[in-house]
Amino acid sequence: MLALPHTLVALSLAVLVAASPAPNPAPAPAPTPAPAPAPQAASSIESIFSSATGAVASALPTILGGWPSLSDIEKKIGVNNGNDLSNVSASALLIPSYANYSGNWNLRFYGLAYKLPNISTSDLDSLIDGLSTNNLNSTQQQLLQNRTQDLASIPIPKANLTALVFANGSSITNSSGIQLQTTDDFGEFDQFVTVPGLGDNSSTSVQVIQTGIMNVTGPGNGTVILVPSTGISIVSDIDDVMRITKVYVPNQGLNNSFVQPYVNVPGVPELFAMWAKNLSSAAFHYDTTTPVELTRTYVDYLFNNFPLGSLEMRPINLTEPSQVLDARQNSLLKLFQTFPKRKFVLVGDTSSSTLLSAYPQIAQQFPNNIACIFIRNTSATDSDDKIPYDTSPFKNVKNGTYFFYRTAEDLMNLDIEGGQCVNSSIPQNVTFGEQGGFLDSGAAIAFGRTQYAAAVVGAAVALALSLF
Ligand SMILES: *[C@@H]1O[C@H](CO)[C@@H](O)[C@H](O)[C@H]1NC(C)=O
Ligand SMILES: *[C@@H]1O[C@H](CO)[C@@H](O)[C@H](O)[C@H]1NC(C)=O
Ligand SMILES: *[C@@H]1O[C@H](CO)[C@@H](O)[C@H](O)[C@H]1NC(C)=O
Ligand SMILES: *[C@@H]1O[C@H](CO)[C@@H](O)[C@H](O)[C@H]1NC(C)=O
Ligand SMILES: *[C@@H]1O[C@H](CO)[C@@H](O)[C@H](O)[C@H]1NC(C)=O
Ligand SMILES: *[C@@H]1O[C@H](CO)[C@@H](O)[C@H](O)[C@H]1NC(C)=O
Ligand SMILES: *[C@@H]1O[C@H](CO)[C@@H](O)[C@H](O)[C@H]1NC(C)=O
Ligand SMILES: *[C@@H]1O[C@H](CO)[C@@H](O)[C@H](O)[C@H]1NC(C)=O
Ligand SMILES: *[C@@H]1O[C@H](CO)[C@@H](O)[C@H](O)[C@H]1NC(C)=O
Ligand SMILES: *[C@@H]1O[C@H](CO)[C@@H](O)[C@H](O)[C@H]1NC(C)=O
Ligand SMILES: *[C@@H]1O[C@H](CO)[C@@H](O)[C@H](O)[C@H]1NC(C)=O
Ligand SMILES: *[C@@H]1O[C@H](CO)[C@@H](O)[C@H](O)[C@H]1NC(C)=O
Repeated sequence: MLALPHTLVALSLAVLVAASPAPNPAPAPAPTPAPAPAPQAASSIESIFSSATGAVASALPTILGGWPSLSDIEKKIGVNNGNDLSNVSASALLIPSYANYSGNWNLRFYGLAYKLPNISTSDLDSLIDGLSTNNLNSTQQQLLQNRTQDLASIPIPKANLTALVFANGSSITNSSGIQLQTTDDFGEFDQFVTVPGLGDNSSTSVQVIQTGIMNVTGPGNGTVILVPSTGISIVSDIDDVMRITKVYVPNQGLNNSFVQPYVNVPGVPELFAMWAKNLSSAAFHYDTTTPVELTRTYVDYLFNNFPLGSLEMRPINLTEPSQVLDARQNSLLKLFQTFPKRKFVLVGDTSSSTLLSAYPQIAQQFPNNIACIFIRNTSATDSDDKIPYDTSPFKNVKNGTYFFYRTAEDLMNLDIEGGQCVNSSIPQNVTFGEQGGFLDSGAAIAFGRTQYAAAVVGAAVALALSLF
């Protein structure tokens, strides 16, 4: 984790040096005009530059999501060093999930077995390095402690869990329940189990059933949606699509994630409610890079504001940006394989570099299952977003099936099932390359793209470093 920002520093320094013919290159936000570099130099700077911005862009969510690792947390709260967990009873959480039908319903059991250690409030306050906790009011302090308490869940490796299933308030499983597969080294489990007794698939709308884990403290309860074989599935990213996170401004991203109440992106609750009502057999699947330990925090927020759906959370053992991409690709693949007859609406935003690559990829793999891909352009609507994004993967996606939007309103009147994904009143600026953020700014044009970029990349790296 620590190695990443250093790589970025090295890259951005290379850019600064290369881009600044002036002998005394200060990384000021408004560089003075300088002689343009020779064309050949410019193109090589350009390539260093684009990999540097790419690195910054792809590192940002990781820096955010690279919230303390499990071993950081264990160290901080003294597990293996006085804070003995052996007398703490086991907890488990079930992440809301989905089921498909093949004669019986196949339920996905997906979640975490963990222990919640007894942590002092001062340790809860200081769990997130780089988050300033000096001037919090009591509401903010409570939110912080509530969320860091969840984050401090210590996984139980190789746990043996027994699940129960309830429909309409009665138990479907017998008293010995369903023995799940032993959890992995990080307390996680993810498997399908065929459960008889849940009726047939004649319903044209999703049905919700309850699940639970036996003999654990803590909530242990979950929901599974029984999804009809055909219909429309909406897959949506959460951060900066449904809730305002501003992951592209590192200090605000952390602040919005840990000390502020979650705030909806305007219009999205209404848009999703309209889709839930109007699209055939609509089902919702929310995909996030927020770690699995924060599931309950997210569930409470999401289901009070958006249609009930399944969640994909970020696995615990992720350290590299490439693993974040793998996790997204795997969860998409699992959905498409589980519902081969459904059509998917994929919703993301330009600040999520992993989705800008994962959505076009799954669209190429399953072209007949794509209804529409909607990407919110966060840099068009928020001048704080200076991070460029890369639209080149969309070169391989059928024109007319993807659309870059600015507000939920832009999507409100589209006839998705009639094949309409594009609102022609919204200008599209897809270059199939790196674009947006500071690349589009007047200053970048006036002062020279590369030099301006160098200053901004330097600033982004400084911010990233300040998180450690
Ligand atoms: C754990 O519980 C046992 C039995 O109740 C007790 O003897 C032991 O001291 C406890 N250990 C700790 C660390 O509290
Ligand atoms: C947690 O620890 C505090 C102080 O170390 C102690 O006073 C409290 O009783 C503990 N709570 C539980 C539930 O063990
Ligand atoms: C405390 O912070 C919350 C969240 O930022 C804010 O909504 C609230 O108004 C603040 N309360 C006071 C008394 O300042
Ligand atoms: C966090 O808050 C929720 C709801 O406000 C509550 O149910 C939960 O017990 C709290 N968790 C902790 C660890 O304080
Ligand atoms: C789960 O069961 C297996 C086999 O009975 C046992 O070896 C293992 O220790 C159990 N796991 C835990 C965490 O108790
Ligand atoms: C729950 O009850 C409703 C209405 O009585 C029924 O249509 C549905 O099939 C039941 N669901 C299950 C899973 O048994
Ligand atoms: C759960 O606890 C009950 C009562 O303590 C016990 O009889 C039962 O065997 C336990 N079940 C499992 C699956 O551990
Ligand atoms: C667990 O139950 C609580 C209380 O009924 C509910 O608020 C929460 O949404 C449930 N969790 C899941 C994952 O269904
Ligand atoms: C966790 O991730 C690290 C880094 O990718 C890897 O070396 C390790 O083997 C992983 N551990 C497990 C149990 O998968
Ligand atoms: C149900 O989902 C499982 C797991 O993804 C998949 O293997 C199976 O083919 C699906 N069944 C149907 C009928 O689509
Ligand atoms: C996609 O279609 C639109 C409208 O038909 C057209 O304006 C645009 O140039 C096309 N884009 C590409 C890349 O073909
Ligand atoms: C495309 O660029 C124009 C001009 O910069 C801007 O007004 C518009 O919001 C952009 N469209 C999108 C979807 O970002």
